[in-house]
Amino acid sequence: MKVLLIGNGAREHAIAERLAQDCELYALMSKKNPAISQLSKAHWICDIEDAEAVKKAIAGKEFDLGFSSPDATLAAGVSDALAAAGMLIASPSKAASRIEWDKGFMRTILKRHGVKGSPLHEVVTSSSDALRVIKDYGDVAVKPLGLTGGKGVKVSGDHFTNPEEAADYAYSLIEKDGSVLIEEKIIGEEFTLQAFCDGSRVSVMPPVQDHKRAFEGDSGPNTGGMGSYSAGQLLPFLRQSDIEDAKKILQDVVRAMKKEGSPFTGVLYGQFMATAHGIRVVEFNARFGDPEAMNVLSLLNGSLTDTFLSMAEGQLDAPVFSDECTVVKYLVPEGYPVQPLKDAEVIVDSIGLEDCNAKIYYASVYETGGKIMTTSSRAFGILGKAATLADAERIAEKGCGFVHGPVWHRSDIGTAALIQRRIDRMRSLRVKT
Ligand code: GLY
Repeated sequence: MKVLLIGNGAREHAIAERLAQDCELYALMSKKNPAISQLSKAHWICDIEDAEAVKKAIAGKEFDLGFSSPDATLAAGVSDALAAAGMLIASPSKAASRIEWDKGFMRTILKRHGVKGSPLHEVVTSSSDALRVIKDYGDVAVKPLGLTGGKGVKVSGDHFTNPEEAADYAYSLIEKDGSVLIEEKIIGEEFTLQAFCDGSRVSVMPPVQDHKRAFEGDSGPNTGGMGSYSAGQLLPFLRQSDIEDAKKILQDVVRAMKKEGSPFTGVLYGQFMATAHGIRVVEFNARFGDPEAMNVLSLLNGSLTDTFLSMAEGQLDAPVFSDECTVVKYLVPEGYPVQPLKDAEVIVDSIGLEDCNAKIYYASVYETGGKIMTTSSRAFGILGKAATLADAERIAEKGCGFVHGPVWHRSDIGTAALIQRRIDRMRSLRVKT
């Protein structure tokens, strides 16, 4: 089977690795990812966020199945362009992926179809309404409606010290985008639950916790994600009922999208928060998470190609996942995320990585004259997988030491101390109710 994968990050490296096990893989990338190109029979470079450019790049070529991975490609209608070229598609259409690229639409869909989990929220278009809502809600989350690479949401307490600062940020978004989503602040622990969807059915993957903040102890600015861990079918701070509730929300969303006439086929990513009052929806993505894809795909038993095919055919064959634990740590350029050192050489010691059982996924790096160079974004994901979280963390941490050059990582991700803080915090929140 000939499969076309669109995308060139570490997430797509993890997808490519699994697909290449049992299909003939082809890749379309904005920039050459050296690892994906090695896994592919052929690859092409074009602006993958431009559906017309994608159409031109694949003109005259034939594929059986297509998967467009990054959010911006979905919003640009790349899945639709692949469908028009006559292949089966395992990623959502532009209309279905609106659940990610329009946060106001997402809240409307939940409300219209009675799906649980939304906090108080309002989309406003004027500064007077923004101020009214902020005063009404007290602590708030101010969210741009569109895609921001995970860096646009600002929250009282973390980013604003008073309502005026929240209002100023809301005004700036109204000026730029014409509107802004303001939500009451929700308090709890975030987790990711991803699902394969075939337009009607939903099959969930192991839950994962990502770490958005740049620095140790969850401090510093937001990033695309500094690392993540999973621990079988549950996370240490969650109850089984939290997973069941989150799963029900994912199922309800897929049902709602079908009723709306935009059935969701592909990977639906739910960003949830476990709170003292139950599960709340932070947002949905229409794709695998990055880094979460590295966690879950390393646990998938069986063929990703078969799972994609079954989704695309509307006959989802629910895959099985191993119960092992995983930890991913992202290596990022020195100075990231504020002043990242780009165009610096990094040396990957593949033998050292293999010897310590760690896996490396290439993210935003490029190759020139046989050297691997950094860009301004995350450079490599390092994965540890083992029967216990402690061992998975040890492997990932050790693996980070086999990439030499001006890169750094958060060494606290996946450690017992950080996870215990999450457990204690969740316990104290639940006790208060
Ligand atoms: N890990 C966050 C995201 O993929 O959006």
